[in-house]
Amino acid sequence: MKELSSIALNIEPSSTMAIDSMFKQMKAEGHDVIGFGAGEPDFPTPDHIKLAGIDAIVNNHTKYTPSTGTIELRRAICERLKADCGVEYHANEIAVSNGAKPCVYVALRALVNPGDEVILPAPYWVSYIELIRMAGGVPVVVEATEQEHFKITAEKLAAAITPKTKCMILNNPSNPTGMMYSRQELEALARVCVEKDIYVISDEIYYCLAYDNEEFVSFASISPEAKERTLLVNGVSKAYAMTGWRIGYVAAPANIAKIIGNYLGHCTGSPSAISQQASLMALTASQETVEKMREAFEERRNYMVERMNKIPGVSCIKPEGAFYVMMNIEKLFGKELFGHVIKDADDFGHLFLKHGKVAVVPGTGFGAPGFIRWSYATSMENIKAGLDRLEKFLAGVDV
Ligand SMILES: Cc1ncc(COP(=O)(O)O)c(C=O)c1O
Repeated sequence: MKELSSIALNIEPSSTMAIDSMFKQMKAEGHDVIGFGAGEPDFPTPDHIKLAGIDAIVNNHTKYTPSTGTIELRRAICERLKADCGVEYHANEIAVSNGAKPCVYVALRALVNPGDEVILPAPYWVSYIELIRMAGGVPVVVEATEQEHFKITAEKLAAAITPKTKCMILNNPSNPTGMMYSRQELEALARVCVEKDIYVISDEIYYCLAYDNEEFVSFASISPEAKERTLLVNGVSKAYAMTGWRIGYVAAPANIAKIIGNYLGHCTGSPSAISQQASLMALTASQETVEKMREAFEERRNYMVERMNKIPGVSCIKPEGAFYVMMNIEKLFGKELFGHVIKDADDFGHLFLKHGKVAVVPGTGFGAPGFIRWSYATSMENIKAGLDRLEKFLAGVDV
């Protein structure tokens, strides 16, 4: 038999899978385990959005739509981007697809020729590195330390750019760190991008989840020069608890949106007509439920960060957005727990699941080997119990 595609063969399975499958197996065996791996809001989709989905079926919104989404939805996206992010787009600059994830992929496909370099700040969301490779690009990882609040500086960005650099992926607020770039920091990055002529895929999927009254700033809003090189990715998954509806979008200059539309027309046809109607409701109705969820996340973040920093051996900085906390475990390396010497984050993750009955995500897959990602998209009750278990686990007591 002939060899399979080398691009496909080189795609790494998700590094979070090992712990996740152990977690699921333990649950199935009846163990009382708590999971902090979720990358999705634990809230149900708000009722008015669900009803719009039902209405869509009843009223026969059940056919193909234009490949980049219905004109009504694209217009609603433009309105929301204007109201929430202060950026003006026209409907022909929007391409809707099946979630933000494929949007990142088509954005890369629109930009990247084989061998082009794509700058990826680390810690990074686990899918970016594989999506870059799938698009034929070469990831160039630029590390941002905890002392730098996991944010790359303009100097670091400039130093990583070569004649082969085509673009950078910026995730703001970030999964996995929860950190958010300020306007000043974005301005400095944008200056470099404009000067060196590189594009920016700005994944702003967590933009509704910003805390402490901090202003979220969209990369595209920085300047007209920044906007013309920005492919803004966003969607309804996180803001409206709609992960299963699969609607995301790219906003980009018309010539780029058109190429993306051509691409989508051939590979996805169109996004789900029913989900588009539900998303239209999400974007145009009152945003009260978004704010309620945001407040609940902020309360959980405050609790988690405060508690974690009181537990000897671990620490975390306070994330400004999204729903993740990066726990620093570097002090535990070389220490023995339950007869094992902890060498890395994967060791910690496995031991914590086995002896603490808590599933977290080791930072190894995010390019952050000294850290563990906790998602607080789970109930306060679980968060309290999970941190109680962390305390016991670090004291060498089995849960
Ligand atoms: C940074 C980031 N971008 C995109 C996505 C995917 O969003 P969607 O469910 O809309 O594909 C996720 C989901 O975890 C994410 O964390």
